[in-house]
Amino acid sequence: MAPFYPEELIQEVIASHDIVDIVSEYVKLKRSGRYLMGLCPFHNEKTPSFSVSPDKQIFYCFGCGAGGTVVNFIMRNENLDFIEAIKFLADRARINLPEGDERGDEAKRYKQKQLIYEINVETARFFHSQLNGPEGESARKYLAKRRISNRTIVHFGMGYAPNAWRALKEHLQSKGFEEADMTRAGLIIDQKQKGSYDRFRNRIIFPIIDLRGNVIGFGGRVLDDSLPKYLNSPETAVFNKSRNLYGLNFAKNASNQTLIIVEGYMDVISLHQNGIINTVASLGTALTKEQAGMIKKYCNEVIIAYDSDAAGQAAVLRGMDVLADAGCRVKVLCLKEGKDPDEFIREKGPERFKRALNESKSLIEYKVELLEQKYDINSIEEKIEFVNQIAEVFAKVENSVERDVYIKKIAEETGIRSEAIIAEIKKNVYKNRRKSSKPVKTVKRNTGYNENIVNEKRNNANNNLNTRLLSAEKMLINLMCDDKSLFNKVKELIRAEDFNHEIHQKIAAIIYTLRANGETIDPVKIVSRFDKDEMQTVASILHAETNFEDDYKAALELINTIHKEKNILKIKESLQEGNVEKLNTLLMEYKNK
Ligand code: UTP
Ligand code: MN
Repeated sequence: MAPFYPEELIQEVIASHDIVDIVSEYVKLKRSGRYLMGLCPFHNEKTPSFSVSPDKQIFYCFGCGAGGTVVNFIMRNENLDFIEAIKFLADRARINLPEGDERGDEAKRYKQKQLIYEINVETARFFHSQLNGPEGESARKYLAKRRISNRTIVHFGMGYAPNAWRALKEHLQSKGFEEADMTRAGLIIDQKQKGSYDRFRNRIIFPIIDLRGNVIGFGGRVLDDSLPKYLNSPETAVFNKSRNLYGLNFAKNASNQTLIIVEGYMDVISLHQNGIINTVASLGTALTKEQAGMIKKYCNEVIIAYDSDAAGQAAVLRGMDVLADAGCRVKVLCLKEGKDPDEFIREKGPERFKRALNESKSLIEYKVELLEQKYDINSIEEKIEFVNQIAEVFAKVENSVERDVYIKKIAEETGIRSEAIIAEIKKNVYKNRRKSSKPVKTVKRNTGYNENIVNEKRNNANNNLNTRLLSAEKMLINLMCDDKSLFNKVKELIRAEDFNHEIHQKIAAIIYTLRANGETIDPVKIVSRFDKDEMQTVASILHAETNFEDDYKAALELINTIHKEKNILKIKESLQEGNVEKLNTLLMEYKNK
């Protein structure tokens, strides 16, 4: 890991938490042998494959391969980078962190992000003050016309980017910021001929704030009907559109178990102003898996309230599937007459809006309705196609009682026999099963860790290793980790280089170094010494359970297997090379063992 805090301090922070306590705050765990098991927070599943080892203080998901120490868990769950996760855990344990050593990539990235946050906050302040100043008159008028109150403007930190080329740039310079950093923050556009100028000009500004209160980016709306209507910050080191939702920083405080997803800034703001604060916006883009994962953390049920135009409808359908896949219950709010939530609530008031919310349709009802609109069931061909499509929708309903209700209803409405619909559904259920079982089969379990290894080349080299050898190495590593006296007894019989799999070799080397320095061998320490890409794999290796009657005897056998298999590999190599001399020496060695 890149330097920032000294290794001992990082270990102290990790050691001051029990991984079981931390994970339990996010996942319901149940004991099962030496592990605690629960539903994985990193992928959607119905049977638990997420496991935590209290002895080793690491976690591993047998379903999706996520794994690591308590730091890796917090990084993924709270969407933090390594240093932020250490800070998070230090805070909880009331450990004071000194200023870090600022060498290394990790440290540089962290500093860069902090600087962008600072620039963004200053920018938000500047735009907000411009809205209240003499330049902001037209913007104030515009917002008043849209019935946005002063309180709401302050609550959302809204602002105005003046109608000038370099107002923000000059302001930030006066505060001591560098132009290059403003460009990195996405606020300045650098063009060779024109020089650099402000990205946001003559627009109402909406700061985008993340769950920790950082200003991560901005949206800006024109005051008239010129184009583009909205302009957003580009992707930066701190702004990733697919990982954020506008308004979630407020909506997370809503007591409600339901979250409303709308399309735009103004919909969120308008609903919040009317007391409906459990609202977030996906900002005009298709909902992503990451967003769905965040939503799932804060609620059980989601209501999609997009515009009812064709584009909106298509977005609803895509969004629903993404949310349902993440395990959310999904409903759709249908606002008639092409209105968006902002217009609707402005014209009809919050009570009518709440009533509409209560009448929102389930995913199935919505899809059925769209199909009913699409097909004319008085025509025989269209009726067949209609049944096909309906069956596809119903096949996804897992609750059989619920499914029966839908079938009956459709049968009554259309005069199609229930049996015919059921027969079609069966075909689809079969199809779905085949589809979903396929990827599981193609995961290559035999060579171990390919799922997570990023480097393809390395992967291929390791593909030659057989399962027997890999599992022998893995078991031996675990025995060496678990039992100090055993390690001392076998350490002379095998060296780190004798391990064949690259990651096993690295783990073994760390074990030998730790022991040589008189340190304890601790899975957390080992995992911590790897790069982010490899941590998961290392956790999965150290997570294996050994169940030998006699550990020492088992270790000797495993060592033997490793040496033998290594020899066979070498023999194969020399055969391929056609190197007879080498082959003979190897065969002699092999016989003598
Ligand atoms: P809409 O066009 O529905 O805008 O786009 P809106 O939210 O109703 O805005 P008002 O009421 O006219 O002010 C929905 C969202 O799509 C994104 C914005 O996030 C917007 O809020 N969008 C739209 C863009 O990013 N760029 C655009 O040019 C238009
Ligand atoms: Mn609108």
